[in-house]
Amino acid sequence: MRIRVFDSPHDAGIYVAALAERVIVQRPQPVLGLATGRTPIPFYEALVRLHQCGLDLSNVIAINLDEYIGLPPDHEQSYACFMKRHLFSRTNIAPENIHIPNGVASDLAQECARYDAIVRRCPIDFQILGIGVNGHIGFNEPDDLLLTKTHVVDLRPETVQSNAALFERVEDVPKQAITVGMQAILQAEEIVLMAFGQKKAHIIAETVLGEIRTEVPASVLQLHKNVTVVLDKEAARDLF
Ligand code: F6R
Repeated sequence: MRIRVFDSPHDAGIYVAALAERVIVQRPQPVLGLATGRTPIPFYEALVRLHQCGLDLSNVIAINLDEYIGLPPDHEQSYACFMKRHLFSRTNIAPENIHIPNGVASDLAQECARYDAIVRRCPIDFQILGIGVNGHIGFNEPDDLLLTKTHVVDLRPETVQSNAALFERVEDVPKQAITVGMQAILQAEEIVLMAFGQKKAHIIAETVLGEIRTEVPASVLQLHKNVTVVLDKEAARDLF
C-alpha cells in the first residue's frame, strides 16, 4: 500500500483527480468505480474542474458501489441523486454509461445479479473508496464472512449513526443497502482509498498496519497490489 498524506481534503482531492485523469486519458473506455459519502466530494470537485479545463469524460463508464434500499433515484438522499449533484450533471459522462444499483427494484436478488453482470462486463480500472468508521468499504460491513458478490446488507448501527449527518433525522436513514461485494472491489486494477479527519485515524491504522480480519473489511486491501491510501494529517495521525 502506498500512503499519501496531504494538508487538506482539498489538496488530496486534486491529487486523486490527477490519478483518475491519467487513467481516463490512457484508456479508450475507462471504467471508474465510484463512492459516495462526504469523503470523495473534494475529488469530484477537482474532477469537475479538470473537465471544465477540457478533460473529456464522454467515454467514462461509471459504476457506483452502493445504494440505499427504499430510496428511489430522484430522492434527495439517494446515492443516485448525490452522484448527479456532485459529478454527473456537471460533466459529460454519458447517461447510458452510468450504473448505480436500484434500491427500489421489486426483485432485489435479480437486481444484485444484474449488477454483477455489469461489473463482469466492465471490470473496474480505477476504484475510489471511502471507509466507514468500522472499516466497511462499499457497504461490506464487518462480519464473520465477507461476501464476494453484490448483495443486500443490514447496515450496522454505527454506519446508520454516521450516515445520519446527511439526513434530517437519524430515523430517516435507511437500515439496508445494496452493495457490490469484495470481488468487484478487489478485481479493480487500481484502488484509491480516501479518509479524512481524526474520526478515521483509528480505523486507518487498523486497515494499514493491522492483521487482515473480516471485522475490518478494508484490511483485505493489504492483499491488493495497487492501492494508494490518501489521507489528511488527522486521518494519518495513528500511522506514524
Ligand atoms: C458510500 C460508501 C461508503 C462510504 C463510507 C464513508 O458509497 O461506499 O463506504 O465511503 O461510509 O462515508 P463518509 O465519506 O461519509 O465518511
